[in-house]
Amino acid sequence: MSTVRAAVVGVGDVSVVHLDAIVARAGSTLVAIADRDPVRREAAAEAWGVPGYADVESLLETEAVDVVHVCTPHDQHEPVATAVLASGASVLVEKPLADSPAAARRLAEAAEHSAGILGVTYQNRYNAASQAAKALLERGDLGAVLGASAVVHWHRAPAYYEAAPWRGTWAGGGGGLLMNQAIHTLDLVLWLLGPAARVDGTASTRVLGDVIEVEDTADVRITHESGATSILSATNAHVRNAPVRIEIVTEHAVLHLEQGLTITHADGRVERVDEPPLPTGPRGYWGVSHQLLVDAFHGAVERGEPFWIDASEGLPALDAIAAVYDQSFPHRPQTTQGGSR
Ligand SMILES: NC(=O)c1ccc[n+]([C@@H]2O[C@H](COP(=O)([O-])OP(=O)(O)OC[C@H]3O[C@@H](n4cnc5c(N)ncnc54)[C@H](O)[C@@H]3O)[C@@H](O)[C@H]2O)c1
Repeated sequence: MSTVRAAVVGVGDVSVVHLDAIVARAGSTLVAIADRDPVRREAAAEAWGVPGYADVESLLETEAVDVVHVCTPHDQHEPVATAVLASGASVLVEKPLADSPAAARRLAEAAEHSAGILGVTYQNRYNAASQAAKALLERGDLGAVLGASAVVHWHRAPAYYEAAPWRGTWAGGGGGLLMNQAIHTLDLVLWLLGPAARVDGTASTRVLGDVIEVEDTADVRITHESGATSILSATNAHVRNAPVRIEIVTEHAVLHLEQGLTITHADGRVERVDEPPLPTGPRGYWGVSHQLLVDAFHGAVERGEPFWIDASEGLPALDAIAAVYDQSFPHRPQTTQGGSR
């Protein structure tokens, strides 16, 4: 079997889980990295023993690659991924797919016309709890799904934004808490309960207004096409990173996703699906599922097959977030790449 030749563009915080996952996968080889920051570029090239490039274009000109992982700030997802798709290679884009729904739709179009495939890094869909809940709900024997509540109460100190100022700006991030943190949970709710017919919400900057221009707190209410309703409470202004919780209520059971899945049936029976323990260390909240997603994406590239978390799967959470922003920030600055939303 031939090797999947992979590169990573953007070697900041999250890149380490991608680099680790590529190197850990039998059948994949890391061939290069790129970063516009020379200090980071040189450090990563040396640490991983591969050539380092200043941008995706020079990497693609020089290296034969099958897959490029895009781990840049949000405003750079569209230009970097578009260059990869134009070369015919496949692209795994970190979330969000792009910094606005308009930019994401342009990327979806570019993927349609490329020999490469596009995947979105919604790694929490690979969590044991998410997979088990999806299978149970699809089987239908828990009765109709009535609704869900979800809680993302996290802590981001000013230093988090000061270390990478794009995270606090409309131009760099396309948004704040919703685009950067709560998008994972919004995606899970939409994946598990189905598409939104209507999204209402508020987003605001409660605590970090001196540091960021985007929101640190949001409430979202989704009316799903099925008639079920979901509510999300999210903030980056909590005192700690509390575990993410999703509770789904059906006619015959309550499914509680929080570091595993607990199913409480109406007749009192309780079932449990355990999650592997979170990695220790400061970024444990990223979870354990990047490796599973990277393995699956490279496998799809190897076999020349589509990947199930494609551009169309990247869009619903972005559309929901844009609906909340339209209600709370109708005059927000346009993103540099996104143009009209
Ligand atoms: N899936 C997850 O759980 C998860 C977790 C953290 C971050 N992320 C996502 O990963 C992405 C990166 O986040 P981060 O916190 O690692 O950012 P970061 O600021 O720490 O790193 C980004 C890097 O990209 C480089 N860069 C910027 N533009 C570039 C370009 N055009 N070409 C090459 N290099 C470029 C920067 O110099 C920087 O080194 C974001 O999309 C973020 O939302 C996902």
